[in-house]
Amino acid sequence: MNRRNFIKSSLLVAMTSTLPRVVLAATPSAGFDYELIVEAADVNIVPGGSTPALCFNGGYPAPVIRAKQHQPVRIRVINKLNEPTTIHWHGMRIPIAMDGVPFLSQPPIMPGETFDYEFTPPDAGSFWYHPHMNSVEQLGKGLVGALIVEEAEKPDFDEDLVLCMKNWHIKDDGSFTALTTPQNAFRMGTPGRVMTVNGQINPTYEVPAGGAIRVRFLNVDNTVMYQINTTDPAAQVIAIDGNPIANPVALTNHMTAPGMRLDLGVIAPSKVGETVTFKHKNKPLVTIKTVASQLKNRQLPKLPLNPITAPDLDNAETIKFAFEWNANITPIEKDGKVSYNFWTMNRRSWEGMSKGHIPDPLATLERGKTYIFELSNLTQYHHPIHIHGHTFTVLKSNKKAITPFHSDTVLLGENETVLAAFVADNPGRWMYHCHIIEHLKTGFMSFVEVT
Ligand code: C2O
Ligand code: CU
Repeated sequence: MNRRNFIKSSLLVAMTSTLPRVVLAATPSAGFDYELIVEAADVNIVPGGSTPALCFNGGYPAPVIRAKQHQPVRIRVINKLNEPTTIHWHGMRIPIAMDGVPFLSQPPIMPGETFDYEFTPPDAGSFWYHPHMNSVEQLGKGLVGALIVEEAEKPDFDEDLVLCMKNWHIKDDGSFTALTTPQNAFRMGTPGRVMTVNGQINPTYEVPAGGAIRVRFLNVDNTVMYQINTTDPAAQVIAIDGNPIANPVALTNHMTAPGMRLDLGVIAPSKVGETVTFKHKNKPLVTIKTVASQLKNRQLPKLPLNPITAPDLDNAETIKFAFEWNANITPIEKDGKVSYNFWTMNRRSWEGMSKGHIPDPLATLERGKTYIFELSNLTQYHHPIHIHGHTFTVLKSNKKAITPFHSDTVLLGENETVLAAFVADNPGRWMYHCHIIEHLKTGFMSFVEVT
């Protein structure tokens, strides 16, 4: 199937299904698989309330981009905001020129301008996209979307649910409350009040009774760490942060911090009208409900592993990174403004970038060599640490037993040290930051350079 037909057939599926579905992209320009128009739009998140959001293609949730592993995807981004933006493809191991970081990888896309992204995903799985400018506001107001890379050979699921989790900072009339407050920025961040999945409060999705269901959770929130559990004791964790795990494990209480993803495999109940609920702590996030089907004795298919080069641990270089805070500054300036250098990585706070000013990298890495990042969180809060353009192999923690797994966003608990290795095989200057958006805005951001 060529890409155009592929998009058409997904459209068809979307139209023939009774499920609440995300809307697909507007008809893309010739030569492009997707077109994303970045613009302000009013959306309905709370009943009867209107929210002045920032959107892709005029609505929320954003279009789900479906690309294919090892096949190029072309996405045209048109900026209709009144401020610059760029779009970053979270978790993609692609060339730096397509990474979507202003100044570091491309000039900002100015209001009225268009930028064409094109890349070939090497890995299949659940990824996402979001701006990399003015992030507290641009992401916080709705510019977040799912990027699903389908396996070169599609695993045999009967249903595939893409579920973007986001807490909206809104009141009952839909208007926004503060996306950040200084007090929260220096703690766990400012959580939104209204918890949603695909912009709905505890939606129900219909699935075929007895079917093998892939449930993809994507944490596209600025702040909240969802602790996902379910009423189905047989639910299996099949992939973490886009990457399948070799041996699926039962879901207990999976910590899914901002930026992280969790793919579950579930065999739906065999009787019609039965439900399985997925929760954050004890609050329902989303429910699946069975409808009639012919399916019987279905098994969860096995996902192929992604082609991530194994780190050469015998010849690796270890680099230590201390995640701390600046004790000798007052985080809140006298005029009530937040100081931007609160959190520190190896004693440095992110100083920002502009045309003509790019700070020094936090580390310079030799291309092709294996590095072990020793990530030490010396704070009493958790931090999901994300690297662009590469995928870590998480090896070890001083706090818990770890079966090595792949991840682009490593969760550090309070006072936890984690060893994460990778082969620095992608040349460029790659952002390296905490994905709690208020944290990256107040210091926890840097980049590493692969020469
Ligand atoms: Cu979701 Cu700099 O990343
Ligand atoms: Cu953080």
